[in-house]
Amino acid sequence: MATIIRGKEVAEQVLSQVKADVAALLARGVTPCLAVILVGDDPASRIYVGKKKEKCAELGMRSLEFTLPAETQEEELLALIAKLNADESVHGILCQLPLPKHLDEQTIVRAVAPKKDVDGFTCRISADARRDLMPCTPAGVMEMLAYANVSIAGKHCVVVGRSNIVGKPMAALLLQADGTVTICHSKTRDLANITRQADILVAAVGKPHFITADMVKEGAVVIDVGVNRGADRKVIGDVDFEAVEKKASMITPVPGGVGLMTIAMLMKNTVRAAAQQNP
Ligand code: GUN
Repeated sequence: MATIIRGKEVAEQVLSQVKADVAALLARGVTPCLAVILVGDDPASRIYVGKKKEKCAELGMRSLEFTLPAETQEEELLALIAKLNADESVHGILCQLPLPKHLDEQTIVRAVAPKKDVDGFTCRISADARRDLMPCTPAGVMEMLAYANVSIAGKHCVVVGRSNIVGKPMAALLLQADGTVTICHSKTRDLANITRQADILVAAVGKPHFITADMVKEGAVVIDVGVNRGADRKVIGDVDFEAVEKKASMITPVPGGVGLMTIAMLMKNTVRAAAQQNP
């Protein structure tokens, strides 16, 4: 049976450090502030934005919310981002995705000043970019691996999924940590043959229970980034947890795994941004 790496424990550890960092900034007269932009009225996005604001308040940080109508034009949104970029009391800016179809996500995301990009979407992930804010979900996975004392150097890390938010930056972070990295996706041939070679397998496909036990090597570390809705509307991961747990050496559950890390890392990025902007 695999050891379960619980997101709650790791997130609590990260957040207790964030709390200490917030206290140190407050003592210097700096209140870390996160600006959240929500365009349109996607119900899931509204819930996520609410959770981010709640977490800021809980940690003694300030948050600002800008809710714009779904028909907002690109120029208006870019003008708001430019205003927040120039506002010294705002340390982090986050534009909740997905955006309405008529807005180009890349254009919007790139408009956020890199020093305030607490989502880490503009992060270059290179050895000379230590000041960059890391993308939250992949950085959360790295935090979980560190917490569980999983060494990455020389290991075969297989990432299933190539999204801009998770798959690609995840692969880059594992490579940065000296892993040997393979990225698989929907067009990959003989997928199971590749996933079975993984010492560390990261599932970020967005398909419920896509990774089955026959796709996993005995003793592998399995990280499930999936957030899917099952037939009963319950949240389920990309990994068939019950079966894979019997083969893996370590595994993250869904819910209660990587999902809890994303918001913790967002808070960590926001205090880090505030500290970097107030040396
Ligand atoms: N939508 C889904 N995940 C994310 C995220 O990490 N950041 C933002 N801004 N939007 C999202």
